[in-house]
Amino acid sequence: TTYRIGVVIGSIRKDSFNRKLALALAALAPEGFTFEHLRIDDLPLYNQDDDGNQAASVKRLKTEIAACQGLLFVTPEYNRSMPGVLKNAIDHASRPYGQSAWAGKPAGVIGISVGAIGTALAQQHLRNVLAYLDVPTLGQPEAFVQVKDDLFDDKGHIGNAGTKKFLQGWVDKYVAWIKTHNA
Ligand code: FNR
Repeated sequence: TTYRIGVVIGSIRKDSFNRKLALALAALAPEGFTFEHLRIDDLPLYNQDDDGNQAASVKRLKTEIAACQGLLFVTPEYNRSMPGVLKNAIDHASRPYGQSAWAGKPAGVIGISVGAIGTALAQQHLRNVLAYLDVPTLGQPEAFVQVKDDLFDDKGHIGNAGTKKFLQGWVDKYVAWIKTHNA
C-alpha cells in the first residue's frame, strides 16, 4: 500500500522554515509514504458568492485533497493564530456546504517558529477548525519546533541529533495514525 500525503504549509514565503520542516519530516517517513505539497498561494480570497463557481485553483486543491490518504499541516504562528493564507485555503476547500474536501482525511499538525512556544496557539486554533471539519487529527505527541542555527543540515535534513530523535518519534506516530485511519 502507498500513502499519498497532502502537505499544507501555512507560509507562502520563499525561505519558509515551515516549508523546510515539511521537507525534513518527509525524509523521516518510511517507504510507501509520498508527500505532495498542495499549492495555496494562487487561491483567491474566499468569497461565498463564488461557492457555485469555484476558481480553477480551488477545484484543483479539492481534487488534490481527495486523492490523498492523509494530510500534514505545517504552520507558523501569526499573531497567536494560524496565518490567513492557511485559513483561506481551509475555507475554500470546505465549500460548497456539504461538499468539503477535508472530511474524514486523517491529519497531523506541526509547526516551527522563532518564538519558544511559537506555533502552540496557531496549532490549537487549527485543531479547533479541523475538529469541526471532521478531520481526525493526531493528538499526541505534540511538536512545537523553534528555529535554531543547527536545526537543518546542508542537505535540509534535521541536523540536531536530539531534535531528530524527537521528530522521528513524531513521524512514527503520525505514520501509524494515517495507517489506522486507512485500514
Ligand atoms: C510572526 N511571528 C510569530 N512567531 C510566533 O512565535 N508567534 C507569533 O504570534 C508570531 N506572529 C507573527 C506575525 C506575523 C504577521 C509575522 C510575519 C510573523 C514570527 C514567525 O515565527 C516567523 O516569521 C517565522 O519565520 C514564520 O514562519 P515561516 O514563514 O518561516 O515558515
